[in-house]
Amino acid sequence: MCGIFAASLQQQVANQLLSGLESLEYRGYDSAGMAVLNAAGQLQLVRVAGKVANLRQRLAEQGVHGQLGIAHTRWATHGGATQANAHPHLYQGLAMVHNGIIEQQALLAQAPELAQQPWLSDTDSERLLRWLALGWRQASDKLLYLQQQLASVQGQYSLVLIDQQQPDCLWAARSGSPLVLGRSEQGAYLASDSQALQPWCHERALLDEGAVLQLQGQEWQLRDAQGQQQEPKWQGFSQQQQRVDRNGYAHYMHQEIHQQPEVLASSWQQLMTNGKPRLERLGSGAEQLLKQVKEVQILACGSSHHAALIAKYWYEAHLQLPVRVEIASEYRYRQSVCQADTLLMVISQSGETADTLAALRHARQQGYLASLGICNQAESSLAQEVDYLLLTQAGPEISVASTKALLCQLQALAWLQLAFAYVRQAPNWQHWADQLDALPESISHSLSHEQQIRQWALDLPLLPCCLVLGRGPSYPLAQEAALKLQEICYRPVLAFAGGELKHGPLALLEPGMVVIVLAGEPHLANKMAANIAEVQARGAEVWLLSEGQLPVIANRQLNLAEQDPWLAPLRLLPLVQLLAYHRALSQGELIDQPRNLAKSVTVE
Ligand code: F6R
Repeated sequence: MCGIFAASLQQQVANQLLSGLESLEYRGYDSAGMAVLNAAGQLQLVRVAGKVANLRQRLAEQGVHGQLGIAHTRWATHGGATQANAHPHLYQGLAMVHNGIIEQQALLAQAPELAQQPWLSDTDSERLLRWLALGWRQASDKLLYLQQQLASVQGQYSLVLIDQQQPDCLWAARSGSPLVLGRSEQGAYLASDSQALQPWCHERALLDEGAVLQLQGQEWQLRDAQGQQQEPKWQGFSQQQQRVDRNGYAHYMHQEIHQQPEVLASSWQQLMTNGKPRLERLGSGAEQLLKQVKEVQILACGSSHHAALIAKYWYEAHLQLPVRVEIASEYRYRQSVCQADTLLMVISQSGETADTLAALRHARQQGYLASLGICNQAESSLAQEVDYLLLTQAGPEISVASTKALLCQLQALAWLQLAFAYVRQAPNWQHWADQLDALPESISHSLSHEQQIRQWALDLPLLPCCLVLGRGPSYPLAQEAALKLQEICYRPVLAFAGGELKHGPLALLEPGMVVIVLAGEPHLANKMAANIAEVQARGAEVWLLSEGQLPVIANRQLNLAEQDPWLAPLRLLPLVQLLAYHRALSQGELIDQPRNLAKSVTVE
């Protein structure tokens, strides 16, 4: 998964390509490159291993000149993060940038002559370029040729191609990975997302699935998946797409953790009207849908999956609504059973996670009542493909490790609980509404413990490994805590349900080791106290983050005042976010862009 930025301008293009890439680095940042064509058809290629900053530095040493260019920031899937594997790839006067994954064996089986060639890189993208090059020179209608050639490609892609022999032209195609066209007085642009276009363009248009585009000077030809001529669906830019500033915070992650009370408060206002859930936020017919649902199946990956697991505890306990939760990458490849009147829910902050989208598409064949997406990106593939959409309002989340987007997902799931209760005339919805109303303030209170958590982070021994325990909804919270610590601190942190401790993990304990315990469920306090005793009996330390008192003395303890336990995981979440953040900070890690990861996982 990678970021693409390309432009055909009436001025020098290189600086804008660089800026565009910088705003796309959340999609990958292990190598970068650009190819610029001048009017004489000279193709200048610059590629580096590492971040866009390295590319900027290289370009300062070795300038490129021209008004048409393509650029790329990469997240390695095939082949290491080397200069040779960086895009653009070149072949026979063509240069191409590609985002996605191509089933290269299938491609090479169709063109055995390609398999014999010596390759310059280990990438599937280079195979794709050579496949496209096969009949390129002979093709009189390049757009038609591109579409025909891509029709037999298995996998997903968005790509932009330039040709030395046509230095005023640029071609693009997309299937399964996003690509957005932008325009301004200076020229035309293509990028992997709208946000990258916003500083330069006054309008943008999302390319439809299967579309191909030719840009010649300021003229474009766009064809849909069926090869029919299309007009771009131009739109302006919303407020949210404006460039994000760190406002004095050293890292986006830190800023995003502290933005949580504010984004929750503004989201809450949009979810309610006159003290009642604003059901039309989901789409028309939502009330009838929520009444009809007898079961819920939730699909998601990573942190979004943890949000789903927490919601399962809630909905089964409070609504008596059966909920199944599955990791999207597992669900998509297995035969599953869909009961009548089951609502499919898919959760993804980016709305572009390849496994989640594939699971949604797979589920469509299974006969669900309807699909409901929870997503933070209005323009994402997921937002376009679901029947009902609950758009979270976390705003742009730049840090790869998700914080505010996850908390907004949890708020959305909690709001759905009260929406279900409201349409079913269950008495508790008002009580839940009151608690959600108070949530932003409670999150501010959690954040006020930052200094204490920071000290914990400085003292926390993470080697040889660290355990996090939880029970009830605090168990998925423990999984989230472990994920955050792994992601940005690069240490093995393992999460377990408290009850599982004696089924294996106890063997890991040794004196000096720290076990972080999360406890937000008073009815499980005695059970968790017993787990804590088991840990301490083996000489390990327990550092307890809790809401309400436990009948136990932990080695360290931060206790939030007891409230109705329903939203306790949300109130404990900022504490684990801050713990991971300050730990990574003390280790001197690159917090916003952890190694080997990317913000939006658009490949399998
Ligand atoms: C963790 C994190 C990832 C994402 C996962 C799914 O901090 O951000 O685990 O939660 O990649 O991403 P979305 O929600 O975009 O589908």
